Amino acid sequence: MSEANESSSHDADSKQSFLVNFLSNWKNASQVTNTTRIALFIVVGFFFITTYATMTYPDQIYQMAMASANKCSRLFEPGSLKWNYSDGTFIWKPRNCALRYRSINESVACMKELTRTTHEAPYILFIGDSRARQLREGLILALTGQDYDAVANRQARVDPAFHKALNNYAEVGTYFETAASHLRFQWASFLDHGKGSLSQLIRKLTEAEFKPSLVVVGLGAWQIRQYYYVNTTHKDGAKEYGEQFGKLLPLLQKLATFTNVIWLPQAAVHEQLLDDKHDMFTSKIMMMYNKKVRDQLELARSSKGTPTITYWQSAWEASLKINDGLDGVHYGYNTKHILIQMLVDWMCRPVSRNLEHVHDLQSSRSSDYCCY
Ligand SMILES: *[C@@H]1O[C@H](CO)[C@@H](O)[C@H](O)[C@H]1NC(C)=O
Ligand SMILES: *[C@@H]1O[C@H](CO)[C@@H](O)[C@H](O)[C@H]1NC(C)=O
Ligand SMILES: *[C@@H]1O[C@H](CO)[C@@H](O)[C@H](O)[C@H]1NC(C)=O
Repeated sequence: MSEANESSSHDADSKQSFLVNFLSNWKNASQVTNTTRIALFIVVGFFFITTYATMTYPDQIYQMAMASANKCSRLFEPGSLKWNYSDGTFIWKPRNCALRYRSINESVACMKELTRTTHEAPYILFIGDSRARQLREGLILALTGQDYDAVANRQARVDPAFHKALNNYAEVGTYFETAASHLRFQWASFLDHGKGSLSQLIRKLTEAEFKPSLVVVGLGAWQIRQYYYVNTTHKDGAKEYGEQFGKLLPLLQKLATFTNVIWLPQAAVHEQLLDDKHDMFTSKIMMMYNKKVRDQLELARSSKGTPTITYWQSAWEASLKINDGLDGVHYGYNTKHILIQMLVDWMCRPVSRNLEHVHDLQSSRSSDYCCY
């Protein structure tokens, strides 16, 4: 990456206090006991799960226009939460197939097998704001057992030096030896009419010798907030966002001729938990903006010969239905876990199933799995 990119990434990171402000406020409230916090989250969480899960958003009548020949890509399409009421656990269930959940060892075995067969360690790049970064953290957790994501887990060990090192990667990314993969994050919080640092980054990736095997990109919250501060209506803001995405799309499509590209929609928020820096967000507003991207990707999909960019519908749905975030903006632990299991399952689709011995709650026959 160029120095310009790196420094802009650092500037943005220093501004990022807006997304973690809630966290420090929370920590300062030391008179609140852990038990009270946990109880509060359980009550609030239950309220949201029950109300939100039954709320009808237009997304739930989302037509699977892009009925896919590839069963594995159903991971990214609409699905549902399946509860096991006897032990209070739930799993994500894509429509008509099962997500294969993997242990750390199984996930690492898969990355090693991918390295063996492609002669290159998998290189996964996340581009976006702190919510996209949480997914990079989630993948680190799924592959190493180390949790660095204090936004989703109060117990997480956050080492500032670790974060700094992660964001100061070299050209080829950050290689995690025990994870047998390169896991990288690049900060981007605004679309840029195809002219700014985000577009430049996508162009560079297209030209780079060592290309990511998977790129997950998604941003919008900062832009939505910016529109709000300058009194742009959400309708106009979403329109502008859509137009700017239209400028990025050809670049993403070019990248998609070399690598898998997934668009991460803006996650649902927990409106009651938002602090005053985020209280302009609602899940409906997030969806308005998401729709601008989804419509364009669906249109592009229907035109023949265009490289496909996956719209990660199930990430939106899981964020809405689980909604276990601690600060109302960021992914909660369970949402993130499910999203990462989807990504790992997708990545491992070429890997022999003999390497794995997976138990999951709802499915035992391997023919049930979305990815063989
Ligand atoms: C996972 O792999 C490590 C190293 O190969 C091994 O020591 C450990 O026992 C494995 N854990 C499980 C649960 O299989
Ligand atoms: C937005 O509207 C508020 C209230 O009318 C006003 O105080 C503020 O100056 C406006 N901001 C901008 C950037 O126009
Ligand atoms: C639900 O949980 C119980 C207790 O852990 C377990 O015995 C049972 O098999 C689970 N049910 C399903 C359908 O996975």
